[in-house]
Amino acid sequence: INLCIMKIIDKALVQTIYKERNEISHKGSHGHSLIIAGSYNKMGASLISAKACLRSGTGLLTVLVPKSEKQTVNIYLPEAMLHFREDLIDFSTYNAIAIGPGLEQNEAAQKLVFSVFLIAKSLVIDADALNILAQNQDWFNDLPENSILTPHPKEFDRLFGEHNSEQERRLTAIKKAKEFNCVIVLKGHKTFITNGIDSFENTTGNSGLAKGGSGDALTGMITSFLAQKYTCLEASILGVYLHGLAADITLKTQSKESMLITDVIENIGLAFQ
Ligand code: APR
Ligand code: MG
Repeated sequence: INLCIMKIIDKALVQTIYKERNEISHKGSHGHSLIIAGSYNKMGASLISAKACLRSGTGLLTVLVPKSEKQTVNIYLPEAMLHFREDLIDFSTYNAIAIGPGLEQNEAAQKLVFSVFLIAKSLVIDADALNILAQNQDWFNDLPENSILTPHPKEFDRLFGEHNSEQERRLTAIKKAKEFNCVIVLKGHKTFITNGIDSFENTTGNSGLAKGGSGDALTGMITSFLAQKYTCLEASILGVYLHGLAADITLKTQSKESMLITDVIENIGLAFQ
């Protein structure tokens, strides 16, 4: 495995991937995303992912939350549709699904993750869904055809064992992405993306993102691009680049200390421009 052929994710690369939004389109043309995130006391994760997903171009968004949280979503995200964890849901109708942020790891969450694995077409797996996968390694054989894993280094080590350096993690990521036919987004200061064949390193973003909730926004963005029919690799590259760029643009009005992920989400539009 040669890390030297790793490509850099910069404006030039992203411009070869980005597709201009078709003027004669309708909401159906841009895909329907489903975000499965949040629990009773972790609703922020759900709202952050969902808002970032909406700001990234999805035609429709449904969020799946506990029934008790209905009003939270209705008030904060009037653009989103709602499903409740307590209901039976046909996961096959969504163009892209994200699962994990703020989900918790109880039995109900585990069942939810497994049922999504069986039916989803395109899936972003993050946070607690990764932790659940780490505890059920045989589920790797049931990953949907188009799967993206977005671990931070700790989640990565829970999935694939302890590593001593970022370089070691990158080598394992390449091996595992190939073995399980998925894309792995190894998050950090210079996020690394691989599908086991091609590998990429991001150039945008800053330490203002080193705060709770930043990863939840990235998950929403990547899901939005998947719903818009970008491939797993393209959606990951676009998401990671624009997420970092929005944080860099936020430095015009905030500091690395003061920036909130909600500020970053409001600058996704400028990042697109
Ligand atoms: N420079 C550039 N980017 C950074 C930096 C940095 N110094 N620090 C963090 N980031 C970016 C990462 O690349 C990634 O996109 O911010 C994001 C952080 O994502 P996560 O590590 O998933 O953090 P978080 O949003 O807090 O996750 C929320 O999910 O992973 C669980 O247990 C975690 O409860 C937490 C929740
Ligand atoms: Mg996270």
